[in-house]
Amino acid sequence: MSYTNLLIEKNDGIAIVTINRPRKLNALNSETISELHQLFIALDNDQNTRVVLLTGAGKAFVAGADISEFAHFNKQEGAMLAKTGQKSVFDLIENLSKPVIAVINGFALGGGLELAMACHFRIASTGAKMGLPEVSLGVIPGYGGTQRLPQLVGKGKAMEMIATATMITGEEACKAGLVNHVVSDEELMPLAEKIAKKILKNSPMAIGKAIQAVNAGFDSAKDGYNKEIKLFGSCFSTDEFIEGTTAFLEKRHPKF
Ligand code: COA
Repeated sequence: MSYTNLLIEKNDGIAIVTINRPRKLNALNSETISELHQLFIALDNDQNTRVVLLTGAGKAFVAGADISEFAHFNKQEGAMLAKTGQKSVFDLIENLSKPVIAVINGFALGGGLELAMACHFRIASTGAKMGLPEVSLGVIPGYGGTQRLPQLVGKGKAMEMIATATMITGEEACKAGLVNHVVSDEELMPLAEKIAKKILKNSPMAIGKAIQAVNAGFDSAKDGYNKEIKLFGSCFSTDEFIEGTTAFLEKRHPKF
């Protein structure tokens, strides 16, 4: 199967998936979401793939959901965007039977950071920039960010990152526990492969069950994800959402 916005390379049990829409900083449009769904289902069923490395082409991991696609959405369409994405990609990756490591090579913003957070763990380059800038657009994170960021960095740090909409560096993300390692650009993929090779030495069956067991500990968060979908949808069509997204598309600062 070939994909428009994804590259896939398989070698000795390791699959490297590259989101490849660099001119739009790999922003997640509906086609990319649909391709990620299809590819991760295929990888889950592929006996020859035991670890997945997820990265981005060019200077971004992923710069978020594609703002140009949802700027005109109403409340129902907004909620559906979050719900479909959460179920078809983010929850799928989180519950995959084999480890998925986010290899954060550049901007991981909004839906991009949410995608990295749905992976089992993350490594980043020193030049990576991470954040949840949604409130600067008049909306909230809708792909699980309000739930997974506090799980990883604690409630206070997550609240600060979400409310200020600021980006943090690879080093800051490492200190906060958002990524496990931070290395130079050149060292990033070699480190990912080194970690993947360590994983390959272990029982795939046991790793799959460990993923299920770890995730079960966070099951009580389910209501939070549903609340996020409803609140995300409720931002759409508001004056502040229209101003925030229009300002981004017109390349100016919003006036809230
Ligand atoms: N959705 C749609 N398009 C996006 C995008 C997104 N989330 N992020 C970047 N792009 C597009 C830009 O519109 C631009 O397209 P154009 O060349 O056709 O005008 C292209 O990608 C390059 O981005 P640009 O803004 O010119 O790069 P930059 O290096 O100056 O800035 C960022 C990089 C990441 C700071 C900036 O692109 C940005 O703020 N992106 C949005 C981040 C965001 O809010 N994400 C959350 C979405 S919910």
